[in-house]
Amino acid sequence: MTRRLMAGTGWKMNLRTGEVAGYAARLLEQLHAVDTSAIDVFVLPPYTSLGAAATAFGGTPVAIGGQNMHWEEQGAWTGEISAPMLLDAGCRYVELAHSERLQHFGETYERVRSKVDRALATGLTPIVCLGETAEDRREGRSDAVLASQAATALAGQPAQRVPDVVLAYEPRWAIGSSEAASPDYVAARHTTLRALLSERFGTEVAGRTRILYGGSVTPDNGPALVALDDVDGLFVGRAAWHPDGFARIVAEVAAAAQVKSRRSDR
Ligand code: 13P
Repeated sequence: MTRRLMAGTGWKMNLRTGEVAGYAARLLEQLHAVDTSAIDVFVLPPYTSLGAAATAFGGTPVAIGGQNMHWEEQGAWTGEISAPMLLDAGCRYVELAHSERLQHFGETYERVRSKVDRALATGLTPIVCLGETAEDRREGRSDAVLASQAATALAGQPAQRVPDVVLAYEPRWAIGSSEAASPDYVAARHTTLRALLSERFGTEVAGRTRILYGGSVTPDNGPALVALDDVDGLFVGRAAWHPDGFARIVAEVAAAAQVKSRRSDR
């Protein structure tokens, strides 16, 4: 089973409107030499830069997405952005449950479940982050936490819709930190998540659902992480805020896609 690998970056609260065209030009110039046809590449700008990003990346292999959204379609929700608004702005993806939203803005997986529904109904692909805290890890409950987050976020979804959701394993202790989780540790968590999907939704659905890794990914540690069987792409923060870093990571994911596809042909 080959899943289309993904290379993505969340810009978080960086890159203002006037900086987007330069970033895009530099990234696209470097991606000319890379065959990205077998992978999905995405950039998640802050809301105010979505318009500039839609223009700069329009007609290129780089899709854009939002970093969050509201679960309702419209209404009296001051300061919020809806799924149809993201679609209007040219988005294909929306990130949900990023650890910074959970930690600082009171996001919960119950809410995330409603957002997943709304995103799918609107035609956006939700990228749902999952991940344990440092304390969860110390106390040996990482897998239980991941199981509970995934079960809540996907509760009520018909099995056939699950592969339309992208999961991103992002250990909270590895985000914005000095080191990514080790490949062995990541492999174990991704195996757990895949087994969980299989148990709940069947092996066919589990085999088609993508699970990315994020948390202190760099061009140096990226190849070993994306080479893992159950890792279907890399989701990058800091190392991709400069286009050269992201271009290198996209090239690594594209190379891994070729290796994995040859392996699955055998
Ligand atoms: P860093 O790559 O900066 O650790 O951030 C990762 C992240 O938050 C991806 O969503």
